[in-house]
Amino acid sequence: MKKLKLKVPASTANLGVGFDSIGMALDKYLEVEAHLSEDKQWHFEHIGPHLQGLPNDEQHYITKIAQTATAKFSKSMPALNLKMYSDIPLARGLGSSASALVTGLFLANYFANLKLSKYELLQLATEIEGHPDNVAPTIYGGLVLGVYDPDVKQTDVSYIDIPKVDVIATIPEYELSTEKARKVLPETLTLKDSVKYSAISNTMISALIQHNYELAGKMMMKDGFHEPYRQHLIPDFENIKELALQYGAYATVISGAGPTVLTLIKKELSGKLVRELQNRFQDCESELVTINRYGVSQKIINL
Ligand code: HSE
Repeated sequence: MKKLKLKVPASTANLGVGFDSIGMALDKYLEVEAHLSEDKQWHFEHIGPHLQGLPNDEQHYITKIAQTATAKFSKSMPALNLKMYSDIPLARGLGSSASALVTGLFLANYFANLKLSKYELLQLATEIEGHPDNVAPTIYGGLVLGVYDPDVKQTDVSYIDIPKVDVIATIPEYELSTEKARKVLPETLTLKDSVKYSAISNTMISALIQHNYELAGKMMMKDGFHEPYRQHLIPDFENIKELALQYGAYATVISGAGPTVLTLIKKELSGKLVRELQNRFQDCESELVTINRYGVSQKIINL
């Protein structure tokens, strides 16, 4: 009998201007221990506050994902006993559902013996999620740019060095569903606006590659794809940003679909800012988060 242990990182998507295409893995994790179930039924044990209330049987999202993946390869998914712990808060813009999705795929890969590479798992994950900005960094770690072409169901990704900056996540108490945060977006943009915002995005990436964080930060805060439409859903956003900029931050943006607010700042200045954010926005949890470089880690243990 073998046990599979997975440690699946959180992620922050968009980085302002990279709507649905840029993401970075963070050192918050969904941790899972799984082995074959003796009674052939699915059992989930959830530890910690973030997973309470989730189903503990085959209705679980992770079961559905594992079964979907195995069915695609005409295999069947055996029932598992799972113990899960997470410090990724749900529906906060930190990629918790992408981490669950990736977990389901890695479980299927191991227990149904699919033998899929990370590249193939990424293809599957993106096909299910619709965009690679959370699943790609969750699988690979680091800062990943990617594009999904739904017509040919193909995802291509590229990496750049992780920025040498400190990252602060300011996490509100309330949830914001991605569905709600996507409903406020416009259906179309004019060609003029598309050109403008993709030029800003390109310049941001080039600046990041050159470690020009002042310019990267300036560009990050000129997004026109999603932030202007979503800001009203996060009442503290403007005030958090104003404070962060006063304390010398490079940029403050919405993390993923929100409501978490992400700040990039010089390491010399981050401590002072995180304390002040915690002080001023007491309904939020402000914390320094490290960028995860390696993505999902998996270990097989003989029982
Ligand atoms: N890029 C996505 C969004 C991330 O902003 O809606 C959340 O799925």
